[in-house]
Amino acid sequence: MSRLVYVLNGPNLNLLGKRQPHIYGHETLADVERDCLALAAELGLQLRFHQSNREYEIIDWIHEARETAGAIVINPAAFTHTSVAILDALNTFDAPVIEVHISNVHKREEFRHRSFVSLRADGVIAGLGTQGYQLALRRVARLIDEKVA
Ligand code: DQA
Repeated sequence: MSRLVYVLNGPNLNLLGKRQPHIYGHETLADVERDCLALAAELGLQLRFHQSNREYEIIDWIHEARETAGAIVINPAAFTHTSVAILDALNTFDAPVIEVHISNVHKREEFRHRSFVSLRADGVIAGLGTQGYQLALRRVARLIDEKVA
C-alpha cells in the first residue's frame, strides 16, 4: 500500500495563526506543515500538504489521491458543514480518511455540529488544536502498516 498521504486544508486555514487565535491558536499553517513533514519522515510516510479556499481544488486533490495515496487527512474547514461535493469525492477514495478540526466543533455554533465529511471519515479528531494533525498522521501510519503486515 502506498505510503503517500495527502493532508488537505480548506478555506481560511491559510490565515491560521492570525485568524481568531483564541479559537485556532497562534501556530501558522506553515508551522503545521513543517511539523507534519518532520513526523512523516519519522513514520516513513511521504506527504503532499495543500490548502485551498476553492472547493474544486480540494476535490481535484482528492481525485489525484485516488490514483496515488494510501490515506487522506483532511481539515475541510467550513466546507465540512456544506460540501456534498467533497463527501462525494471522498466516497471515491478507497483508503483511510481522517477528518481533523483544530477547534472542538461540538462546543461551538450548532451549524458546526453537522459534518458531511464525517459520513465518510474513518476517524474524526476535534478540539486537540494543531496536534490533531500529528495524531491523524500516526493513525494513518498505523492503518497503512496493518494493511501491509
Ligand atoms: C475548523 C472548524 C470549522 O467549523 C471552521 O469553519 C474552520 C476550521 C477547525 O479546524 O476547527 O474553518 O475546521
